[in-house]
Amino acid sequence: MKRKTILSGMRPTGKLHIGHYAGVLTNWIKLQEEYNCFFMVADLHALTTEYDNTKDIKQNTYDIVADWLSCGINPQKAVIFCQSDVPEHSELHLFFSMLTPLGWLYSCPTYKEQLREQSSKDLKTYGFLGYPVLQAADILLYKAEVVPVGKDQIPHIELTREIARRFNSFYGKCFPEPQALLTETPYIPGIDGRKMSKSYNNCIYLTDTEEDVRQKVMQMFTDPTKIRKNDPGNPENCVVLAFHKVFNQNEAKDIESLCRAGKLGCVEDKKNLIKILIDILQSIKEKREKFTPKKIEEIISEGQSKASSVAKQTINEVKNLIGLL
Ligand code: TRP
Repeated sequence: MKRKTILSGMRPTGKLHIGHYAGVLTNWIKLQEEYNCFFMVADLHALTTEYDNTKDIKQNTYDIVADWLSCGINPQKAVIFCQSDVPEHSELHLFFSMLTPLGWLYSCPTYKEQLREQSSKDLKTYGFLGYPVLQAADILLYKAEVVPVGKDQIPHIELTREIARRFNSFYGKCFPEPQALLTETPYIPGIDGRKMSKSYNNCIYLTDTEEDVRQKVMQMFTDPTKIRKNDPGNPENCVVLAFHKVFNQNEAKDIESLCRAGKLGCVEDKKNLIKILIDILQSIKEKREKFTPKKIEEIISEGQSKASSVAKQTINEVKNLIGLL
């Protein structure tokens, strides 16, 4: 049976943290075994908000690919490429922009939310409004049927389906209506208990050293009422336990009981977690060392050529259907 096609992407907004690893990358690594996968660095999407601050964009693209590879995304199994290397994304975006009603874009929940949240930035731009149109072009250019994304991206996949339907109804069947593949992403808080995010400065990065990990874990938020080792803990909001649940699944239940029973102190608990995290990051680091900068450039360039050959076919078909050829 023919493998289904998957496309997913990440904006290159800086180095990845252990939450990306547990949430997104472990899932991509599984999917590359079963699907025809395209994994894209969405640098044009980054421009929709960072158009006035582009100096790091190339480096960030390179770094994110290095992170993917060192976690186990395999260029022999998946096409790894950069969006702006394949100009057909922009071309399909333009064709789609002709038939996308403004109302669909203004009412998109992510649009309204971002305008509110990033109020210090001027996001009342043509490009930012069209963010989901560009995303639809990314997905449909490869006729992807399945799009692994987080919950927040559901409205964009819904819009993609609507754009596909509208295109097909005007010009003839060309595109599938892709499905979002929602994956159970484990919740991993930042070291202070808030959401793990670069802007909160509470992340454990994939490139952190052992010393970084030690210091960060020792700072992790735990039950503030558990002062001595023998105090029974209430670990509902304990960051250390949240990490054990994700990275040390076999022992997490016992750790929780011991904590509640006052038989495990926070310091010992943290030391155990440090070992586990250092092991994970060590194996990522070892893989990273196998990829020289030159090798990474090669992988991105091979990805470009594989992605381009599919993209060119689709654009040809699209222009034909519209009547431009
Ligand atoms: N909008 C996605 C995000 O912010 C990134 C992205 C761009 C994407 N193009 C895509 C995701 C296509 C899936 C498919 O996470």
